[in-house]
Amino acid sequence: MEPHKSLDDRSGGDALAELRHALYRADCAHPGLDLYGHSTRVAMLTTGLGLAMGLPAQEASLIGDAAYFHDVGKLFIPVSTLCKPGSLTLDERSLIEAHCYLGGQALAKEAGPFAQMARNVALLHHERYDGRGYPARLSGKNIPLEARIVAVADVYDALRSVRSYKAQRSHEDTISQLMKECRGDPGGFDPLVMEAFLDTQADICAVWDSSMLSNLAMMMKAR
Ligand SMILES: [Fe+2]
Ligand SMILES: [Fe+2]
Repeated sequence: MEPHKSLDDRSGGDALAELRHALYRADCAHPGLDLYGHSTRVAMLTTGLGLAMGLPAQEASLIGDAAYFHDVGKLFIPVSTLCKPGSLTLDERSLIEAHCYLGGQALAKEAGPFAQMARNVALLHHERYDGRGYPARLSGKNIPLEARIVAVADVYDALRSVRSYKAQRSHEDTISQLMKECRGDPGGFDPLVMEAFLDTQADICAVWDSSMLSNLAMMMKAR
């Protein structure tokens, strides 16, 4: 499986192209890392959510491609920390949370509207609609739309995936957890994104299952 080819038209800059290939190489070197696989699935889910929200196809696709770069800051964090089994120390937790700033910095080397969107996504995808996220504790529509959409796609994929420190969850368990995060007024996610998510959850589940199959093929090839 080659790196996400649809990005070629948009990531013409050297820095974006290099980061894109670095994500791919990271998974080839460390199959348990699942950084390229996760990024690819989040990109697909984000495009689907954008379409379900009624965004024009071109805009949904652009946001999906920007979503591919959301965790690019993790390239600058030791794999031993990212894949540590068990609980993290406070310092390790802080280091991992710094992936938002590190990704924003890496993407700042590139100019243009697509790079700006990718930078927003990298820097702000862990913000919460209720203002209790990180790194800037932005809330509501102060968080750019692209980051609000990626936030839901990111948590869905992270919960459904196996990690060194946790088992994967079923689609149904994942939905329950997402709904818990939505408690309160406002909740943790943009209600319009969540509405689109719940309306299309059967399709989202199907896309995720099929993307896992192609990801599995890449992992087997990398062995
Ligand atoms: Fe992240
Ligand atoms: Fe992520």
